[in-house]
Formats: sequence, structure tokens, C-alpha cells
Amino acid sequence: MTYEFADRLRNLPPYLFADIEEKVIKKIAQGVDMIDFGIGDPDLPTPRPIVEEIKRQLDDPVNHRYPSSQGEEDTRHAIAEWYARRFGVDVDPDTEIAILLGSKEGLANVARAFINPGEKVLCPDPAYPVYAQGATTLCDAVPIKAPLDAENDFQLNLDEIPQDAKMLYLNYPNNPTGAVASRDYLKNVMSWCKDTETILCYDNAYSEMTFDDYVAPSVLEFGQQAIEFGSLSKTFNMTGYRMGYAVGDATLVAGLKKVKSQIDSGTPKFIQKAASVALGAYKDATRPEIVQSSVDVYQKRRDVMVAGLSRLGFDVKLPKGTFYLFFSVGDNSMEFASRMLDAGVVVTPGVGFGANGEGFVRMALTQPVERIEEALERMEKVL
Ligand SMILES: Cc1ncc(COP(=O)(O)O)c(C=O)c1O
Repeated sequence: MTYEFADRLRNLPPYLFADIEEKVIKKIAQGVDMIDFGIGDPDLPTPRPIVEEIKRQLDDPVNHRYPSSQGEEDTRHAIAEWYARRFGVDVDPDTEIAILLGSKEGLANVARAFINPGEKVLCPDPAYPVYAQGATTLCDAVPIKAPLDAENDFQLNLDEIPQDAKMLYLNYPNNPTGAVASRDYLKNVMSWCKDTETILCYDNAYSEMTFDDYVAPSVLEFGQQAIEFGSLSKTFNMTGYRMGYAVGDATLVAGLKKVKSQIDSGTPKFIQKAASVALGAYKDATRPEIVQSSVDVYQKRRDVMVAGLSRLGFDVKLPKGTFYLFFSVGDNSMEFASRMLDAGVVVTPGVGFGANGEGFVRMALTQPVERIEEALERMEKVL
């Protein structure tokens, strides 16, 4: 018997990084020291109070059982309280919050709830690939790529995007570009979505990873008609725990919960309970020490890396959000990444985030300053 993938799986674009990954694996197997800026996964540990809380909760057999798929009541309350303290937004923990197995899962599953086969979904280009692929293509829907251009500070141009799509994914602070959005811009996005009857899925995974004087808002500060996704992954260095949340319009949240109730049984209770403790560290809108200390580390790395790359002749801006640097390297980002690999430095070709990312590479600031300095020396030798 032969097995054939369904059309929707065949419709996914080819995995562009396969070649690069294979090369990295080979080099590591040969004992080559690679400095990896490829993956957006914090190298810093989860803050101790969160780890201690997980251990404590794990000792209680009540937490060994199935969680509720929509999220434990206490944790939904903790998220509602965090939204009130952090953004000044009131949300109903029963109807306007769903807990997710990481925000990625929710970003993908929300499309199943609202998108019919053949309908259009607006996906920025470049972008986190889940919007166009895990969400849209796997719903047999049509991703409409909307360019984010460097000349326009990687803001989506609302005057130039189609108005007949059912849904729009938007993400600031942005992966891969590091761009942030102003409050006025987000207000315009909210009214554009209302006028065009487009569902706004706002990905706020990096809301706490911001620098200098920039504070990321929630789009829910500007109205209720949207669903916003957040995550403990980057804020508290918890990528491996799979803990995120969706907050917003009750119908949008209900649709997502309905899909999830048929598929998963929720984030483990002991993780959810520790997440409540993590969010409880915010006493007001300002970042608590357990978050600020990581942001300080990334900011220092950002400054060292941007200064070094500028010395090498690249035009790199100091991003105000995320731990990504996204900069132009000429015409062929794959070829550039391949050259850097040979020098022992892993960077991600921008084209992997969409055709409009071609010519750029992304570097994630997930290496200590000494390694950043060493990588800069290696790069200088081959440039
Ligand atoms: C823009 C963006 N959104 C969402 C996620 C998913 O995060 P998680 O599923 O760990 O919450 C990521 C992860 O890299 C991301 O870059």
C-alpha cells in the first residue's frame, strides 16, 4: 500500500531551511564550533520562582489529572487581572479568555473556527510562517500576502491591502523584523478591520520584550473586536512549557475554545498554576525584575551586535522590540546564510519568512556577548 499526503499538506510550501539545517548538523557532527543565531528560543533560564512553583504544584496529585481544555479557572482569572494591571483592559475570564498550548496552537486553531475553504486570509510577508501555513493553508483557505517593507518601517500599508479577506494576522513587536507599532497605527488597524469586516488576529507574543522608551500596547486597549494572542514563552523564558493565551471578543474566543475542545486537553495544570504566579509578579504595568533582567540582557546584546554589524558595513537599526535583528545582505539571503555557515555562524535567510523577506537575514540575540563578539570576528573574516 502507498500512502499519499492530503492536498492541503502538499499545498504547504517546501521547507526552505532543510538544506541549511542539514549543513549545520553535519558541521556539528564534525566537531565544528557553530554560533547559532538561528532560532528564537531564549538561552536564559526560567526564573527560579516559576520553576519552584512548578515543583510545588507537581507534588499535588490534583495537578496530575486532565486540565480543562479552555484553561483552569484560576489561571484565566490571573490572565484577566494581568490584562487589567498591564494594559488597563477589563476582560471576562469566563467568556473572553482561552488558555493555549503555546500561542502557536491558538494562532493556527482560530482559523479552523472561522475560515471556510477557499476564503482569503491576509498574512504579512515576511512573517511568522504559522499564519499562512498552519492556519490558512491547513484550512484549505487562501493566504493573501501583504508586504511589510523596510521603507515603510515594516508596517502593513492599510491603503494597499485587499478588503475582501475574512481574517488578518498582524504581529508587533514583529518577528522577524523587530519592528514595533505605534498606538495610533494600531487604532487605525482596528477601525480598518471594523470597516472591512475583517477578523483581526493580533499576535502580541513579544509584548514584554521591548527596549528604550517603547511600551507595547494591547489592541484591546482600542476596542473589543479582535482576538489577541500572548505567550509566556519569551516573557518568562518558558518556550518548553507550552503556555499561551487568547483574549478578546467573546465569539472569537468561543470559536477557538470549541475547536480546542475537540482536539486537545489543555496545558498541564501545574504549568498553568505556575503561569498564574509568573503573571502575578506584575504589581502594575511595569515589568517585574524577573522579566526586566532578561530584557536588560537582550538590550545589551542588541547594542553590541548592532554596533558590530554596522562596523562591518550593514545597515542595521536598533530594534525597539523582540530579540531579532533583520537586515539587508544583498540579493540572495540563502547564499549569504550559507557563507556564514562556512564561517561557523548560523543566521536565518529572510526568504524563509516569505518572498518579500528575500535580501534580508534574521539573527536572534540568543547568544552571550562574548559569543556575539566572536561571531562578528568570524563574519568579518569572510566578508
Ligand atoms: C511571532 C510569534 N508568534 C507566536 C510564537 C509562538 O510562541 P509560543 O507558541 O511558544 O507561545 C512565536 C514563536 O517564535 C513567534 O515568533
